[in-house]
Amino acid sequence: MNFYDSERISDLLKPHGYQLENNDEDADLIVLNTCHIREKAVEKTYSELGRIRDKIKLRKEKTGKKSIVAVAGCVAQAQGKEIMKRSPWVDIVVGPQSYQNLPELISKVDPINNNKHINIEFPTIPKFDHLDIDINKRNSSAFLTIQEGCDKFCTFCVVPYTRGAEYSRPITAILEEANKLVEAGAKEITLLGQNVNAWNAVGKDKKTWGLGRLIQELSKIKELKFIRYTTSHPLDIDIELIETHRDIAKLMPYLHLPVQSGSDKILKMMNRKHTAKEYIKVIEKVRDYNPQIAISGDFIIGFPGETDKDHKATLDLIREINYSQAYSFKYSPRPGTPAVVFFDHVDKHIKTERLHEVQDLLRSQQMQFNKKFINSTLNVLVLKYGKKNKQYLGRTPFNQSIYFRSNSNNLIGSTVDITVTDAFQNSLTGIIKSNKNI
Ligand code: 5AD
Ligand code: SF4
Repeated sequence: MNFYDSERISDLLKPHGYQLENNDEDADLIVLNTCHIREKAVEKTYSELGRIRDKIKLRKEKTGKKSIVAVAGCVAQAQGKEIMKRSPWVDIVVGPQSYQNLPELISKVDPINNNKHINIEFPTIPKFDHLDIDINKRNSSAFLTIQEGCDKFCTFCVVPYTRGAEYSRPITAILEEANKLVEAGAKEITLLGQNVNAWNAVGKDKKTWGLGRLIQELSKIKELKFIRYTTSHPLDIDIELIETHRDIAKLMPYLHLPVQSGSDKILKMMNRKHTAKEYIKVIEKVRDYNPQIAISGDFIIGFPGETDKDHKATLDLIREINYSQAYSFKYSPRPGTPAVVFFDHVDKHIKTERLHEVQDLLRSQQMQFNKKFINSTLNVLVLKYGKKNKQYLGRTPFNQSIYFRSNSNNLIGSTVDITVTDAFQNSLTGIIKSNKNI
């Protein structure tokens, strides 16, 4: 979602005379878009700010030039005043729900009096009404935020505090943006939301639409070939979405469905509002409707109170589901969340050991999943050039990266049938199946 927000920020600033600069040392304006989800991400913000001060701001000042530095995103939301205290040379702090105000804030920065600006409100007029798409620079694959915020309040998570309450964009705005993205060359759209399958809105038929119905509508856009969405909560997957995975070929056979833990005791302490069995049942149902679907997930390792037994339950759940790929993180206490006051912290060496065990298992499942595709042919969207000569990088329907070679120099944005020749941990390699001109 930060990627989407960063794109909107650059599109928003373009009419005000700013354009993207590859070398940040030459930039007149630096917007650092930040993530607060785990402590590591926050540390990155402060180390990056130190680099920006030394390498850009101070160096420019020595030659009599000024640069404006803005901190955006969820660290800005959570630590507004703290950022100004720790880094008083920062000019603007703006939260994820108020970055539409950046042009105004920038115009108010007064380099002589060093005026500072903080805007971290949750405005009543949604920011989306003030944003637009720059149709001149799109890629073959685009993001589209349809939902933001979260009302689930998992006890470890900052999202309900930094992104705010659940908000669903209206259908017309989403369809309009999707059509614009396609007009600008997008063949694939990934629908985004912190809890994307909680998206709902009233349709032209006066009925409440859910994500499945929305995807069915989007699939009518002729030039749009691939639809994806992320990230989902197990309790918000309804039958219509599951049917859509069976009925709509343009919806890719990939589901990222975080569970966080396989232990019911830990799930309860996390306030996930479902048991391990209920999660497994959801996946079984999805697989009933679409047997080939690839399942991905998120895991938090070493949540307070996690015993060896709880950890084993997580490993058991992973074995039962058999993931195509998944993300796992050490628990990171986040200020302001209910879990910070939970005691019974897991020893950091045990946390590391458990994380390795989970990651080894997930890695072996991913390798097995990738190997299954050797000798089969997949319809691949070509995203960009690879690092090697005449090499391209594409994405398979199952969200794998795939490398192949071609003499043709205009394949980006097209779809090609690729026969898989080899499988690795994080990617596949293949050759173009049909040799029609390419
Ligand atoms: N500590 C570790 N991981 C976290 N996540 C969210 N909050 C925390 C935290 N406090 C992980 C969850 C979530 C993903 C986006 O980040 O697994 O699904
Ligand atoms: Fe955070 Fe996801 Fe839980 Fe919402 S559902 S509180 S975004 S982990």
